[in-house]
Amino acid sequence: MKLKIRNWVALLCSMWMSFAVSVLEGVGPIPDPLEVFGHDDKNDVIGTKWAILVAGSYGYGNYRHQADICHAYQVLKNGGLKDENIIVFMYDDIAHNPLNPNRGIIINKPNGTDVYKGVPKDYTGDATTAQNFYAVISGNRSAVSGGSGKVVHSGPNDTIFIFYADHGTVGYVSMPVGEDVFAIDFVAVLKKKHATKSYKKMVIYLEACESGSMFEGLLPKDINIYVTTASNKYKDSYAFYCPGLYPSPPVEYTVCLGDLYSISWLEDSDKNDRTKETLQQQYETVRRRTLVSNINVSSPVMQYGDTKLGNDFLATYIGATPNLYENTFSFEPSTTQTTLISQRDANLLHLWLELEKAPKGSEEKLKAQRKLDDEIAQREHVDNVFNLIGDFLFGEKKNSMMFHVRPYGQPLVDDWDCFKTLIKTYESQCGTLSSYGRKYTRVFASMCNVGISREQLKVASMQACLNKNHAS
Ligand SMILES: *[C@@H]1O[C@H](CO)[C@@H](O)[C@H](O)[C@H]1NC(C)=O
Ligand SMILES: *[C@@H]1O[C@H](CO)[C@@H](O)[C@H](O)[C@H]1NC(C)=O
Ligand SMILES: *[C@@H]1O[C@H](CO)[C@@H](O)[C@H](O)[C@H]1NC(C)=O
Ligand SMILES: *[C@@H]1O[C@H](CO)[C@@H](O)[C@H](O)[C@H]1NC(C)=O
Repeated sequence: MKLKIRNWVALLCSMWMSFAVSVLEGVGPIPDPLEVFGHDDKNDVIGTKWAILVAGSYGYGNYRHQADICHAYQVLKNGGLKDENIIVFMYDDIAHNPLNPNRGIIINKPNGTDVYKGVPKDYTGDATTAQNFYAVISGNRSAVSGGSGKVVHSGPNDTIFIFYADHGTVGYVSMPVGEDVFAIDFVAVLKKKHATKSYKKMVIYLEACESGSMFEGLLPKDINIYVTTASNKYKDSYAFYCPGLYPSPPVEYTVCLGDLYSISWLEDSDKNDRTKETLQQQYETVRRRTLVSNINVSSPVMQYGDTKLGNDFLATYIGATPNLYENTFSFEPSTTQTTLISQRDANLLHLWLELEKAPKGSEEKLKAQRKLDDEIAQREHVDNVFNLIGDFLFGEKKNSMMFHVRPYGQPLVDDWDCFKTLIKTYESQCGTLSSYGRKYTRVFASMCNVGISREQLKVASMQACLNKNHAS
C-alpha cells in the first residue's frame, strides 16, 4: 500500500488541529513587556565565559537538534570562547550517518557552511546522560561517568551559557541515553550551583515543545539566571528548513536542518555586533521571527528568571567576533505561506521522504514503507490507548480535565514525584513514550493535579495496553 501525499498531509493537519483545540483552554496571558532598565556596565564581568551545549535526541530523522548545537558551538568559538570552556553533549550519529548526503558534514541552513567542524566531542554516545549533564553544571568531576570529563569548573566572576535543543514535552526534556531531565531536578541543580557561589550570571536558551513548563513557577528570579524558551508551557516548538517547505534544504536532504527558535537566535548572533545587542533585543527579534502569522501553529518565545539580565550585551555570555558579520541567507518572519512542522512530526516527514526517494520495487522501498507504516500504526495506537485511559479515569469529565494544563505562572504540578511515578507506571504497562507519544505527557500532570493514584493508572493502562509490544 502506498501512502498518498494527501493522506499524509491530512494526518498532519488533523494532529495540528487536535492540538490547537486541546490547548485553547489553558492558554494564559502573555506577560507584560519588560520595563526598561539601564544597561549594565560592559566591563562588570571579568571572569571566564563557560558554555554547555546539549542535543537531547539521536537518530538521523532528528538531524536538526545536533545541527543547532554544532552551529551554537561555531557562534561561541567565533565569539572567542575557548574549547576548554565549551562542553558539548551530542550523540554524534549524524555527520557520518549513511543517510547523510554530505558525509562528515552538518549544515544548519540551506547552502550553509559545515558547522560540525571542530566541535569538541565531550559527551557522545552512551555518555550523553542526565547524570553527566548535572555533574557538568555542578562542576563535579567525580560524578561524571564516561566522556571527556570536562566540567564547568567556574568561579564567582564567571558566566555560564546553556543551550539545549530537544523535542521536549511538559515537565521534562530528554537525553539521548537514560533518564530524562525533569524540570524539578534541573532547577534544583541550578539552585545548588547558585548556593555554591560559583557563577556570576547564567543564561539558558531552550528549544523544545512546551518548554515554558521547565521553568514556570519553578525558577527563582533572584539567582542571577535568565532564561528564554522556544515556547510556553502549552504549545509545541517547530522544526525549520524542512524539505518541501519554504525555505527548503537541498533536495538530497530528507530532514529538517534546524529549529525555528534556534536558528533565529543563532543567525541573529552571526549577523549582529554582539557588543551592542542586548539579550532583550535578541529575545524580541527571536520572538518576532518565531511567531509566524498562522498563530495556531506557532510557538510563543518566553522569558523566565531574572529578566533584568536582559539588559546585558550578548557579548557578556557568548563573546563577540571581531570579524565581519556573516550576512548570508536568512528568512524573514513570514506570512500565511509559512508552514511549520512540529518537533513531534518532523520524523514522520523524514520517513515519508525516505520512502519517496527509494527506487521503485527495491528492498529499500519495502523497508522504508515498513518504517513509515510502523510509525503511523504506533501513533494511532498511542492515541487509542490514551483515549481508553481517559474514558477509564476521567469518565465524562475527560474532555475538560484530561488535557488541562494549569494557568500561566503556576508550575505544571506540585507533586513531581507523582508525575514521575505515573509516567513510569504507564511505561511499565505500555512501553516507553515516543516523541509523538509525549504529546500526552500533560495527561499525567492532570492526573496528579486531580489526585488519581498510581494504582488507578496501573489498572487503566493494563487494560488499555493488553499487548505491550505494540505500544509506544
Ligand atoms: C542554494 O544554492 C542554490 C544553487 O546555488 C540556489 O539555487 C538556491 O537558491 C540556494 N538556496 C538558498 C535558500 O539560498
Ligand atoms: C560529587 O559527586 C559525588 C559522586 O556522585 C558525590 O559523592 C559528591 O558528594 C559530589 N560532590 C559535591 C560537592 O556535590
Ligand atoms: C573576582 O573579581 C574581583 C574584582 O571584581 C576580584 O577581586 C576577585 O579576586 C575575583 N575572584 C576570583 C575568584 O577571580
Ligand atoms: C485557529 O484555531 C481556531 C480555533 O480552532 C480557528 O477558529 C481559526 O480559524 C484558526 N486560525 C487559523 C489561522 O488557522
